[in-house]
Amino acid sequence: MAEITLRQQPYIPGFTVGEYLDLVDQHFPETGARLWFGRKGSHTELARLAGLSNEFETDHHSGRGDSYRQAQRNPTIRMRGIRTLFTLASGCADVRRIPAGWRVLDLLGGDGLLDRVFSCLAPQARGAVITSDMAGHMVAEALRAGHAAVRQEARYLFMHDESVDAALLAYGTHHIAPGDRLAVCREAARVLRPGGRLVLHDFEADSPGSMWFSGVVHRYSKAGHPYRHFTAAEMTRLLKLGGLSSITLHRIYDPLVTRGESLEAAGAEMADHLYDMYGLTELAQPHAARADIRQMIWKLAENYFLHRESDAPDDAGSEWQREPVIYQDGPEWVALVPRVALVAVGEKR
Ligand SMILES: C[S@@+](CC[C@H](N)C(=O)[O-])C[C@H]1O[C@@H](n2cnc3c(N)ncnc32)[C@H](O)[C@@H]1O
Repeated sequence: MAEITLRQQPYIPGFTVGEYLDLVDQHFPETGARLWFGRKGSHTELARLAGLSNEFETDHHSGRGDSYRQAQRNPTIRMRGIRTLFTLASGCADVRRIPAGWRVLDLLGGDGLLDRVFSCLAPQARGAVITSDMAGHMVAEALRAGHAAVRQEARYLFMHDESVDAALLAYGTHHIAPGDRLAVCREAARVLRPGGRLVLHDFEADSPGSMWFSGVVHRYSKAGHPYRHFTAAEMTRLLKLGGLSSITLHRIYDPLVTRGESLEAAGAEMADHLYDMYGLTELAQPHAARADIRQMIWKLAENYFLHRESDAPDDAGSEWQREPVIYQDGPEWVALVPRVALVAVGEKR
């Protein structure tokens, strides 16, 4: 049988590499110019990628991809933390000052949530985010929604050297196997232009944020959550060994925030968000009442996202709360689950 060419290789659901490249050339030419499918080893990596699957593809078997995407329809829930990540990645204290033409590669980009949030926060630089993810269904969904997106594993990028101004590893960095973490940082550093920044974000090992994953997500999602979270020392070491300099560490406020017309509506939206985002399907008996499930989730959030005064993030403002709360804000009610994320930033010389 004739060997299939690179363009004929299956790539994302419904697209071969060739069909994908044609689509990118037509709709996202600036991203197309950064792609490098002719890179040595691409053929092997594409074949490997086609055989890979993780829990973020769909909800079939032990997955939570469909429900995860459902939870991302509201771009405001994680807006505060995401804004801070863009300020750290760009070096601009105000995201509205990020210049048009700046490009950031969102390496664990899912279905493009960070791009959606960025477009709301910094419309002057719209188009800055290139969404990148190993899950085919995530990338297919991102493209369908109009985001420039690439399917690639973070440890091997189909992208040219020095082709972006910043790279983000956020909201799921613990999913990268410990043995791959240095290779991922080196690969991100390769695609950064000199002076570009790599931002590494996670919920620190043994913090309320990571204990939520081990105590709740591991226990009540079908896939479980057997991943090792990062420490500050590991982040610093990885960025140094990855060849980055001027390394800084930050503990940022990264809450989940929902709004509603009543206390009940804001609380219900938060509970449903947590249920979908983390795929907490094993929490209750199959026919349990929705109100009871919401109550269970809120109780778990209260038990886990309980911070000490000394846990206050570096950027704690008037919004900082040590524990989950629902309060009235003008005509609206706000449900807030506080989280503090650990972030390391390094610069390419
Ligand atoms: C928790 S989701 C975050 C998605 C999006 N950034 C968000 O905040 O909604 C983590 C994503 O990382 C992707 N992922 C995990 N490990 C990866 C790897 N080694 N390379 C590329 N993507 C990876 C998963 O497929 C998943 O879509």
